[in-house]
Amino acid sequence: MSEIPPRGAYPGTRPRRNRRHAWSRELVREHELRPSDLIWPLFVQEGSGTRTEILSMPGVQRLTIDLAVEAAEQAVEAKIPAIAIFPATDPSLKTDDAREAVNPENLVCRCVRAVKSAVGDRLGVICDVALDPYSSHGQDGLVRNGYVVNDETVEVLCRQSIVQAEAGCDIIAPSDMMDGRVGKIRSALDGARYSHVQILSYAAKYASAFYGPFRDAVGSAGNLGGGDKRTYQMDPANTDEALLEVQLDLSEGADMVMVKPGMPYLDIVRRVAETFGAPTYVYQVSGEYAMLTAAAQQGWLRREAVMLESLLAFKRAGASGILTYFALEAARLL
Ligand code: PBG
Repeated sequence: MSEIPPRGAYPGTRPRRNRRHAWSRELVREHELRPSDLIWPLFVQEGSGTRTEILSMPGVQRLTIDLAVEAAEQAVEAKIPAIAIFPATDPSLKTDDAREAVNPENLVCRCVRAVKSAVGDRLGVICDVALDPYSSHGQDGLVRNGYVVNDETVEVLCRQSIVQAEAGCDIIAPSDMMDGRVGKIRSALDGARYSHVQILSYAAKYASAFYGPFRDAVGSAGNLGGGDKRTYQMDPANTDEALLEVQLDLSEGADMVMVKPGMPYLDIVRRVAETFGAPTYVYQVSGEYAMLTAAAQQGWLRREAVMLESLLAFKRAGASGILTYFALEAARLL
């Protein structure tokens, strides 16, 4: 949106005139939320026929693969274009070197295969690339002398990307915030003949306290203990740095970029969308979902109303689409 040119003043100009009737409000509406704007994150667990509540995310459940396939079918019906699959890895498989991340038979790969064989090209499947669901320390990368090392981690992330692409993943989404990983993953995918696999980079990902419930959902909260991710995720105080991160990722070959978290970072969404004009996604993260849901459960906010208003806000800020735990519910309402 550009500068507003000068206009007449009251009483000649009365902005309320356009708002008087519902049809008129529709007519002048600038932004619209559609099911095709939504990406639905799903948590998966081992077993079959079982859903497990996530206490800090009321209404969101971990699903076994068979139920994740059903959820994928529901997403197609609701006209949601893509889902993102996150594994709750069995604690016994978590190691220092997160080797389960590159196991082609790991939970997420098996889930991707099952979902893709059911839905084919009717639904896009996105996989996170980062080591935190698999590491005994809960960090997104390999730890050496208490520090998450960059280049060695990137090598593992490349292998992780390839096993996920092999499983049928359509979009690889590096969420690890290592430097240079997008370029390396792009070459690794191209080298393995996956040049058609897209990269959605978590480009401006902040070291946020709003990820808490997600870490409960994938079971990495206990692994991380009192640790944090501030040596690689961005400082919430920074905004110019977000533009640098996005610029680097686009120049390394990211097809789409993401800002995360969402509502507290709408200024970043706006700047990134305006500056680069690239497909820009935003993640309404677990803590945002928890806040809105908890207040609605108390009867303090109206669930559907705040859900739709918060999602529309992302569109208004310039987002091309939104990852949200409300995706199915919102898509059905729209
Ligand atoms: C993993 C990852 C996280 C989220 C998405 N991918 C957690 C983290 O970085 O600690 C958070 C999503 C959410 O909170 O909903 N790297």
